[in-house]
This record gives sequence, structure tokens and C-alpha cells, in this order.
Amino acid sequence: MSEQRIFIVGAGQAAVRAAEGMRKRGFDGRIVMLGDEAYPPYQRPPLSKAFLKGQLEENRLAFKADAWYEGQAIDLRVSARVERIDTAARELIAGEERLAYDKLILATGSRPLQLPIPGADLNGVLELRGIDDAKAIKTRLEGLDRLIVVGGGYIGLEVAAAARQMGRSVTVIERLPRLLSRVTSPEISSFFLDLHRGHGVDIRLEDSVERIEGDGSVSAVQLSSGERIDADAVLIGIGVRPNQELAEGAGIACDDGILVDDHGATSADGVYAAGDCTRREIDGASVRLESVHNALDQADRIAAHIVSGEDLPFDPPWFWSDQYDVKLQAVGLFNGYDDIRLIGDVGASRFSALYFRGGTLLAVDSVNDPATFMSAKTLMKLGVTVTASEIEQSGDNLRDILKQARDAARSDS
Ligand code: NAI
Repeated sequence: MSEQRIFIVGAGQAAVRAAEGMRKRGFDGRIVMLGDEAYPPYQRPPLSKAFLKGQLEENRLAFKADAWYEGQAIDLRVSARVERIDTAARELIAGEERLAYDKLILATGSRPLQLPIPGADLNGVLELRGIDDAKAIKTRLEGLDRLIVVGGGYIGLEVAAAARQMGRSVTVIERLPRLLSRVTSPEISSFFLDLHRGHGVDIRLEDSVERIEGDGSVSAVQLSSGERIDADAVLIGIGVRPNQELAEGAGIACDDGILVDDHGATSADGVYAAGDCTRREIDGASVRLESVHNALDQADRIAAHIVSGEDLPFDPPWFWSDQYDVKLQAVGLFNGYDDIRLIGDVGASRFSALYFRGGTLLAVDSVNDPATFMSAKTLMKLGVTVTASEIEQSGDNLRDILKQARDAARSDS
């Protein structure tokens, strides 16, 4: 058995995947996972969807049964907060303990941005990151009439959809001129604006909340536009910031995210980082990806690199969101596109937006169009360059292009 000690700080998606990946690859040294939440690692995506709507029970949220950690000899410690890293001594400081590591993986995630306005500390002002937050929102939603959502991003819109489906009145206040601007194009934003308005959500663009009012509990919000709206609860979903303080305190290079290379290695010897807390270069651009897929992909790469020095092939970034009966699936990074083509039937809510740069496919957003999404994802994973004219010639059928690419690869081999 190896004497190596690998510590993982954080107990979310990236942490579990890294531990699992190292064991799968035959690492038989010590693995210790330290998470500051009171729960064993759990899935976050259902918190703003099925869990809120009561379609998924709390006991189904855990990634693994408790016995799994024991069976895999993973020493999982919950409610365990690491205060400091001493990279010179290769030690973690947690409470009274100094814990010696050989390799360290930081999977500390991100936390919601706060809204620095009067009334933000009133009872009924909510945020959504963990199980406890989701439970508080769920309880509130059961009793309230009007919910105000600040931020028209993933959290805001998924919770707005859940609340509407539960029959609540919902107003979304978005500061920018369109919804989902961080993650998609104006065309897709406009589809989601119509979708939510069609379901009775009152959406206010280019507006913000100046003050939350109430006597102990929320009763109204005052908007910058001058309007005052009654409210029983206010959900703040205005983005996240990476949890990088531990790394920064240890002198590890950070810049709105812990800086990592393609293997997930940080600037400190033996220290890796994965997931929401990281920033890296993709195709020459410095990006911080906030997604489940990114957490899994980086964790896989770290596990492979630590255990066998192996370089896994890159997986294209992908994302998804569920709102009402609409599934948005996105693959690739759309930033920097110079052309967009919509294929399918927008009116029937079944279409895809294809993004190009210099005539080459860059990214795809699919709305209830899993076939296009899956084909694009596989083409990108295979590293096939697809041009706008090829797509046009195929009659906008990415499945055909994928089939041709596979046939060509077979005849080459
Ligand atoms: P976000 O970045 O997706 O959206 C935040 C929105 O708030 C933006 O549209 C922004 O313009 C707006 N905003 C910022 N300041 C504002 C202000 N003062 N007033 C009004 N609007 C303001 O972040 P969000 O929705 O908070 O999500 C947090 C994290 O959770 C992200 O990492 C996201 O990726 C993740 N998440 C992902 C989901 C998915 O992939 N389906 C679902 C739920 C959460």
C-alpha cells in the first residue's frame, strides 16, 4: 500500500469525482476529504429544480451512500473547516490539528454574491447555494404569495419557474437589458423572456433593487425605476464568487479564481484545484467556468495526472438548465462568436442556436433539441472542425455530419 496522503478540501462534485477517479485508477494511499458543510457530498443541480418542487426528497440528494466512503477507504470529514495551508511544510491547519499532505486538491467551490443594499438582512431575504438554503426557500414558497427574484440568471430563472409551477406570483428584476447574458446570446435570452412572460412571470429588465423594506420581515422592494412592489420573500441570485481565500492565504496565484494549468495544477508544488473555484486558459482565453461538467472534467484530469501522469483528452464544456417543460443544453463556449444560425422550430420551442467564428462552429445552445446537442457535443469531443457551409449542405442536420465524420474516421483507420 502506498504511503501517500492526498487531502481534498471541499466536499462537492469535484471532490467526490477526484477521490473516485484516484481509487478507480488504483491509488491505494490515504485519501482525506474535508468539507465545511454538515452534509456528506450532495448534488446541487436539483436544489433549484426538482427538490424545490417536492419532486425529489432530501435523502436522494447525496452522491454516494455513507458506506461508499468506507468501502473506498475515503476518510470523509464533514463540518470540518480548513483555516490555513502551509505549502512549505505541506500541512493543512484545521482547528487544533496540523495535517500533513503529499498532494492537496482544492475543491472549495464558490459562494453567492451579496447585494449590498439596505434591508438585505431582513427575514425572508434568501439565497440558494446549499441544502439548507433550498430547504428555507421551499418552506417559504409553501406559504407565500409574492416572490421577488433579483437576478435573471440560472438561479433566478429556475427558481422563478418552480415558484410559478407552485402557483406563486413572481417578479424577476434583472439589471442588464436581457436575461442569461453571462451564458448565452440575445436570441436565446429573448426565447426565455417570452417563455417566462408566457407563464405569467413579471420580468423587469434594466432595473435593480435599491432597498428592501419590512419590519423584521420583508414586505416590499423599492426599485431604481421608482416603483415599489409588495413582496413576501426576496431571492438574491446575482452570481457567485470563487472561494479562493485559502489558496490566496497560502500565496497560491489567484485572479478571480485559483489559477490552474491543464492538469489542474496550481502555482504551488503538489497543490491542485478543480471546479468553480478555478480559472484557466481555454483556446487562449482566461475563463472561470461555473458548471457541473467543469468540476467533473477537471477532477478527472487531476486524478489521472496524480495517479498515472496521464493526460486525458479535453472534453468540450457543457451546461444545462431546466425551466418549465424546456430543457436548455449548451456545449462549447459561445463568447467571441461572429455569426449565429438558428435551426429547428423556434415557435414550437424546439430549436438550436449555432455559434460560429470565422465560419467554424464554436458552440451550440439547444432548446428541447437533444439530438443536435448530442451530435455537436460528440463532434467537439472528437475534435472535428465543422463549418457553416457543411451544416447548410447537410440541411442543418448535425447528426448526418457526425455520421460522415465517423465513417471517414473508420475508412482512415
Ligand atoms: P448568474 O451569473 O447565472 O446570473 C446572475 C444574474 O444576475 C445575471 O443575469 C446578472 O446580470 C444579474 N445581476 C447581477 N447583479 C444584479 C443586481 N444588482 N440586480 C439585478 N440583477 C443583477 O448567477 P446565478 O443565477 O446567481 O447562479 C449562481 C451560480 O449557480 C452560477 O455559478 C450558476 O452557473 C449556478 N447555477 C447553475 C445552474 C445550471 O447550470 N442550470 C442552475 C442554478 C445555478
